[in-house]
Amino acid sequence: MMNEPPVYLSREQIQRRVRELGQTITRDLRGKEIVCIAILKGSVIFLADLIREIHLPLSVDFLGASSYGTGTSSSGVVKLTMDLSRSIEGKDVLIVEDIVDTGLTLDYLLENLRTRNPASIRLCTLLLKPARLKKSVPIDYLGFTIDDRFVVGYGLDHGEFYRNLPYLGYLDETPK
Ligand code: IMP
Ligand code: MG
Repeated sequence: MMNEPPVYLSREQIQRRVRELGQTITRDLRGKEIVCIAILKGSVIFLADLIREIHLPLSVDFLGASSYGTGTSSSGVVKLTMDLSRSIEGKDVLIVEDIVDTGLTLDYLLENLRTRNPASIRLCTLLLKPARLKKSVPIDYLGFTIDDRFVVGYGLDHGEFYRNLPYLGYLDETPK
């Protein structure tokens, strides 16, 4: 049995912010039909909650990317583990990401997606950890800016565990 990490952001705090993000996106993109692309695996919980707060015609697709091994620091190497199921040519795309840490993953993915000629690409991330940013990524919608600690839960993992935690906790091994 794994012990419960201390709370960093509560279920209620996250829910409130996700609702606000959905409202803003709905307002900004009114009249458009969008493709929400979740970056696997960390953003699936966020995606599930966010799309239910977006009141626009939308479809969902998934892009698998992995830049972390089982440790808590970025390898800097991005591996595509799964591609989209459909073309995004001419589409208005909203990328849904869990966390921008070094920015290397998003930098790589944005470059890749741009070559497929979508009408537009917007980026929504639940979390930003500015302390470790190496590449600046154009974030359109941001949930929370967080401290430089390793967070888990609400989809985010450590060694594939903790994704099912309903809140965002932090691990003691990354004190601050
Ligand atoms: P980046 O390429 O360094 O921006 O890392 C992006 C990916 O690293 C995210 O999509 C997460 O999967 C993972 N990651 C970065 N920081 C954390 C964290 O604090 N907890 C869990 N996963 C993290
Ligand atoms: Mg991850």
